[in-house]
Amino acid sequence: MTTGQAEALERLWPRWGLDIDGRRVLDLDELFGGRGLPVVLEIGFGMGEATAQMAAEDPATGVLAVDVHTPGQGNLLALAERAGLTNVRVANGDAIILLREMLPPASLAGLRVYFPDPWPKKRHHKRRLIQPEFLDLVAPRLAPGALVHCATDWEPYAEQMLEVLTAHPDFENTVPDGGYAPRPAFRPLTRFEGQGLDKGHVVNDLLFRRR
Ligand SMILES: C[S@@+](CC[C@H](N)C(=O)[O-])C[C@H]1O[C@@H](n2cnc3c(N)ncnc32)[C@H](O)[C@@H]1O
Repeated sequence: MTTGQAEALERLWPRWGLDIDGRRVLDLDELFGGRGLPVVLEIGFGMGEATAQMAAEDPATGVLAVDVHTPGQGNLLALAERAGLTNVRVANGDAIILLREMLPPASLAGLRVYFPDPWPKKRHHKRRLIQPEFLDLVAPRLAPGALVHCATDWEPYAEQMLEVLTAHPDFENTVPDGGYAPRPAFRPLTRFEGQGLDKGHVVNDLLFRRR
């Protein structure tokens, strides 16, 4: 962690940070200052550059960004302050506990999962985030019409995402032919994506809607 990240974490956490303790159900409107903002959850924001950029481009949406990586949390807090953003909150801990214990039904206007850990080895596939059980957990927390946006540079994982999202009764593909979505202009290049592209990987976006 750089000193800048550590300093931002210490100074800004009391204002914009959220500890995932699994002990209370959140009031997301209150968390975002009572302004009636729709709130999207981003799981695994890494260093947070894309998160900050998307939040700056859409100030009418609250972004609840969760990761376990503390240097990234400091980095995102510093980026948010530098850009004068008031619509980002940073959560520390496991997104599964956040979803299961702390988010009320239909509280989310969207979900973003950009370049989740690919777990390429077969014996580790069960660690992948996007699985039927995960979608069962997410679906009730999403408001009807909420957008689920995933992207990955690992093609076998993209295939798994497409398969499980397509099979789940609570989600429908926004793409008429039922395949991958064209990369939407609102998703900036992420750090991890850049590394994948340097290795010649193909990036796939998936855009599904909660029924
Ligand atoms: C491969 S990185 C991608 C980061 C960023 N989205 C990007 O594209 O540059 C995946 C991130 O997900 C985070 N992560 C993995 N599992 C998580 C979980 N259960 N809860 C919160 N964050 C998680 C990791 O700490 C890591 O920062």
